[in-house]
Amino acid sequence: MQADIVPILAQLQLFPTAASKQAGPIDDLYWFLTIVSAIMTALIFLAVVVFAWKYRRRENVPAHQIEGSTTLELTWSIAPFLIMLVMFWWGAELFFQAQNPPKDAMEIFVTGKQWMWKIQYPDGAREIDALHVPVGQPVKLTMASEDVIHSFSIPAFRVRHDVIPGHYDTLWFTPTKTGQYHLFCTEYCGNQHAGMIGWVYVMEPREYAIWASGGGAQGSLAEQGQQLFQQNGCATCHLLDQQGRCPILRNIYNKPVQLADGRTAIADDAYLRESILDPNAKIVSGFEPNVMPNFKGQLSEENVIQLIAYIKSLSPTTPASQQSGGGLPPITPTRAGRQSSIANTPGNQGKTPAKQ
Ligand code: CUA
Repeated sequence: MQADIVPILAQLQLFPTAASKQAGPIDDLYWFLTIVSAIMTALIFLAVVVFAWKYRRRENVPAHQIEGSTTLELTWSIAPFLIMLVMFWWGAELFFQAQNPPKDAMEIFVTGKQWMWKIQYPDGAREIDALHVPVGQPVKLTMASEDVIHSFSIPAFRVRHDVIPGHYDTLWFTPTKTGQYHLFCTEYCGNQHAGMIGWVYVMEPREYAIWASGGGAQGSLAEQGQQLFQQNGCATCHLLDQQGRCPILRNIYNKPVQLADGRTAIADDAYLRESILDPNAKIVSGFEPNVMPNFKGQLSEENVIQLIAYIKSLSPTTPASQQSGGGLPPITPTRAGRQSSIANTPGNQGKTPAKQ
């Protein structure tokens, strides 16, 4: 009997392998919380036992009145307060780090769907239930759900994030050890939830470059998006170089957009996704609502990711190109400019977009 239990206990891991940069600091905080809880629990039980013994019922012991003690009350209020502040500060710092991917992070797209993880790489490659990343490189995942709430979790990296239908969720990590690590869905999402698992492969940069050199059979993500852009007739109204019935999409990515209701929005992934699926949610200043059809239900989340990649490719990302100032300003067209161009028929649909 004992012989059976010992090997099982030996295999028990308190922590999975720590294979990302953030794993160490997160484990440190976890240990701190565990140790503080253990010490507090021990103190409470010790006090219970000691006082139960010391003040047990005995005969002929005269009772005497105990007055309050300010020192004692201040001590047991301030000491826990300071310990809690440390927990708060430490936790908040890690939380903010987790929310802010570094600028140089490599971007990979994840779509959760009952019951699989679909992965899309910028070069157009696609995988299911497998994620390949190079070691030492910060990786940012932009995640969408096609149906219900899923949760993307890589225990070895100490990262997990719910993937909620209707918007993008992000998560980032820097893998530090090559190898193969479990990938889970950690939110019950239907009867095959337990099968929604996969592997993360962390490779040496050179090995990764060879793996990635295959690319996508249908071109890069941006090229796939460009195809969709033509197929769905987007190019009819979103002209590339002159004002059509809808905003010009060149040089808008991550730039401020003036809205008709006076607000300003940033044309990031979330904004573009919303504008594709629910065009009337935010109307750009100078444009009419109800011009663009609703693409909700027409395009999959993967399609939307391709379209966003295409729009992104229309905005060069280097600061040098921003300095050149040759591009169009954020969309604040004059009414006259828009009116005059409505008569234009789509003449530049076939133009290839600027390559980065
Ligand atoms: Cu997806 Cu559980």
